[in-house]
Amino acid sequence: MFRLSTRLFSSTTARAATTTLPGSSLAGKAATVAAAAGVLRMKHTLPDLPYDYNALEPVISADIMRLHHDKHHQAYVNGLNAAEEQLVEATNTSNAAKIAQIQSAIRFNAGGHINHSIFWNNLVSIKEGGGQLQAGALKSAIEAEFGSLEKLSKLMNAQTVAIQGSGWGWLVLNPNTGKLEIVTLPNQDTPAMIGRHPLLGIDIWEHAFYLDYKNVKADYLNNIWKIVNWKDVEKRYEEGLKLVTSN
Ligand SMILES: [Fe+2]
Repeated sequence: MFRLSTRLFSSTTARAATTTLPGSSLAGKAATVAAAAGVLRMKHTLPDLPYDYNALEPVISADIMRLHHDKHHQAYVNGLNAAEEQLVEATNTSNAAKIAQIQSAIRFNAGGHINHSIFWNNLVSIKEGGGQLQAGALKSAIEAEFGSLEKLSKLMNAQTVAIQGSGWGWLVLNPNTGKLEIVTLPNQDTPAMIGRHPLLGIDIWEHAFYLDYKNVKADYLNNIWKIVNWKDVEKRYEEGLKLVTSN
């Protein structure tokens, strides 16, 4: 969901663009000017959780979900919007040094927003089918690549727990080969940055588990498989298959 920036049509150029857009030969040019001026831009907003805060208990507590979603994810959204504002200003003034400086904030906050937006939908309560992988294309692909869901979870947990510092473990689809892969990425890097289609992400930042599990990452990783929303993962897999170029 998006809402219009407060900077929308905030300049004379932009107001001129709005009046010339319908049916005018100048419309395209005016829109281009407005876009180049950075005045027509959607702000990112925090998506609602697809379930109640306590839906993932006892695996993840409502306290963690409130902090994780309302504070941490909101901070990435705010950071991304702020960085984009700075980028527009730097672009409009051809400030190359500033443009270069902003890249790390864009990378971090955009990744955080993308990753958490996927993560919430990757999970579901146990009573709503959490952890239940039904027969189908994804289950077949997992068995072909890893042998079984249990072997996948053990391998992914081993790689995710080994991340030094904060990061994510991911089950991804490689669009070049059509194969499933496990990758780990630091900080808020996101699979698109390495050309992979994200299917299932496990957040191993301390904010994701510490209130419930303290320093015992292994327990968090073992339990999270009980609330994986495999229907969502399969939907993402089917979307990813459309990107595969090896066929
Ligand atoms: Fe997180």
